[in-house]
Amino acid sequence: MKLFIDTANVDEIKEANDWGVICGVTTNPSLVAKEGRDFMQVLKEICGIVDGPISAEVISTQHEGMVEEAKKLAAVHPNVIIKIPMLPEGLKAVKILSQQGIKTNVTLIFSAAQALLAARAGATYVSPFVGRLDDVANEGMQVVKDIADIFLLHDIPTQIIAASIRHPMHVIEAAKAGSHIATVPYKVLQQMFSHPLTDIGIERFLKDWEGVKFKF
Ligand code: E4P
Repeated sequence: MKLFIDTANVDEIKEANDWGVICGVTTNPSLVAKEGRDFMQVLKEICGIVDGPISAEVISTQHEGMVEEAKKLAAVHPNVIIKIPMLPEGLKAVKILSQQGIKTNVTLIFSAAQALLAARAGATYVSPFVGRLDDVANEGMQVVKDIADIFLLHDIPTQIIAASIRHPMHVIEAAKAGSHIATVPYKVLQQMFSHPLTDIGIERFLKDWEGVKFKF
């Protein structure tokens, strides 16, 4: 399973990219608003940092508007993926864009039925929101598992991006469920590094090294 970072913060993207662990970025209108910067400028900067799929979301709710916005976003860089909300109008836009060779990520997926529709309309990616399903007492990861089973069984090439990831166990469970990708917030990537035995181990190695007669 690949890892993307779920943020519009350029510093976080740079840091995670330097770790070598991410190969894509997802943004959404809320994440972009949090940065308080010019969206196109931010998108250009992100495309200059990560050499992989960068999702940027449209805000129109009618397919004509979505397609128009998609073309502006896609013109920024060949790696830009157009994030489209899971609506009947959204799928019309997905169909048009896929016929034009523009890649899409259908977002706000909360059921396997929605994912199947999006895939059949020509979506490159679908993004099931695990954390938001858990928030309303549904089993978010079961939706990821169901989508993975259906796509495998029916040879559907659309890739799954497990989204709305809240903690490291979500990432592990998404990998076990057969998700192709998990898009992970910076804080969760940091949490994935942590283990008390690693800290204790480093401390012990450094202490023991004090007795070694050698200087680098
Ligand atoms: C995915 O592409 C979305 O940007 C994101 O994962 C939503 O996460 P949230 O539920 O934490 O807002």
